[in-house]
Amino acid sequence: MRVTICIGSACHLKGSREIIQQLQQLVKEHGVSDKVDLNGAFCTGNCVNGVCVTVDGTLYSLSPETTKEFFEKEILGRL
Ligand code: FES
Repeated sequence: MRVTICIGSACHLKGSREIIQQLQQLVKEHGVSDKVDLNGAFCTGNCVNGVCVTVDGTLYSLSPETTKEFFEKEILGRL
């Protein structure tokens, strides 16, 4: 599963760094690093939607507060 997190400036201001750290931590905790491929991506033009994260091409809008829930539902839930 390929997960990309936007590291463009607008998303950076909304906490993309923190989201990446949280996701890395969660992936490690759950031992799914061989299944989940975390990547950074540049601005995809969806800045208004907050931190843009894609899972196999599907776009989600995240904030540091919703990252854990997102991980459980959209990542763990689909493995
Ligand atoms: S900075 Fe993330 S979509 Fe533009």
